[in-house]
Amino acid sequence: MTDTTGSPTGSPSPLLVTGGTGTLGSLVVPLLREAGVPVRVLSRTARPAADGVTPVRGDLLKDEGLDAALDGVETVLHLAGGPKGDDVAARNLVRAARAARVRHLVLVSVIGADTVPLAWFKAKLEAERAVSGSGLPWTTLRAAQFHELALTVAEKLAKLPVVPVPGGVRWQPVDSREVAARLVELALGRPAGLVADLAGPTVHTLGDLSRDYLRARGKRRLMLPVRMPGKAGRAYRAGENLSLDGAMTGERTWEAFLAERMAERLAP
Ligand SMILES: NC(=O)c1ccc[n+]([C@@H]2O[C@H](COP(=O)([O-])OP(=O)(O)OC[C@H]3O[C@@H](n4cnc5c(N)ncnc54)[C@H](OP(=O)(O)O)[C@@H]3O)[C@@H](O)[C@H]2O)c1
Repeated sequence: MTDTTGSPTGSPSPLLVTGGTGTLGSLVVPLLREAGVPVRVLSRTARPAADGVTPVRGDLLKDEGLDAALDGVETVLHLAGGPKGDDVAARNLVRAARAARVRHLVLVSVIGADTVPLAWFKAKLEAERAVSGSGLPWTTLRAAQFHELALTVAEKLAKLPVVPVPGGVRWQPVDSREVAARLVELALGRPAGLVADLAGPTVHTLGDLSRDYLRARGKRRLMLPVRMPGKAGRAYRAGENLSLDGAMTGERTWEAFLAERMAERLAP
């Protein structure tokens, strides 16, 4: 017998993962399954069910399907995100999570949410505030940019005849598998509030990330130093997007990630 969302009645409460179909979420879900946790994955599109993983349709921005997705759920791992509206999505989720009397709401945010004056970071800070002010037990992890994002940026820049290099901008990219493992540990643990940031092991300039990628692809490009304007430029040059003190650091390096991805591309 199953309940309305397909979970067997009398079985342990499923853990709801929003964003479970994304880069990070698709690493988190198998780790939860290895830990024996039944998982519900919220997505805007219909997906096939898999062993122990129940897909549920819903849209956090449109506030659709959330009450059904949260029915009987004790822990939520909120990983869904997009270029816009992460504040709205978090508020909608919090409303539904409160109604469902969720016992632990876990959020992934970004290092610099409270310091970098760009709309996306501000939305992340508002999402954090929605969670911490929800009245529900919560945990928030701020992570650095994932290696995948650094690669995407380097790939896009390499398509240009001249690669712009914003002076003084540095990243501390982290392996998404390490972020996934940490989030699973947090979701299966007790609510902990704002925990130590998780960043990568090395600080790189954006120029270095581009150069490493070009070298790995055997490409040559002219590099053009540019100045990132405004408050955001000042914040980046001041390293406000980095977490140098008190952060946990992952072990897997950008170089190792890049080598792995290039080897995958060469594989038959
Ligand atoms: N990438 C980074 O470098 C980085 C760094 C720090 C923090 N983060 C945060 O980590 C989280 C995961 O990032 P990611 O790179 O794995 O993201 P991603 O690959 O772009 O995946 C986005 C996920 O969000 C879901 N989603 C988007 N809009 C939604 C909506 N309106 N309703 C329901 N689900 C929605 C998507 O599900 P469907 O498409 O299936 O609906 C998808 O599973 C995000 O919150 C992101 O801000 C990312």
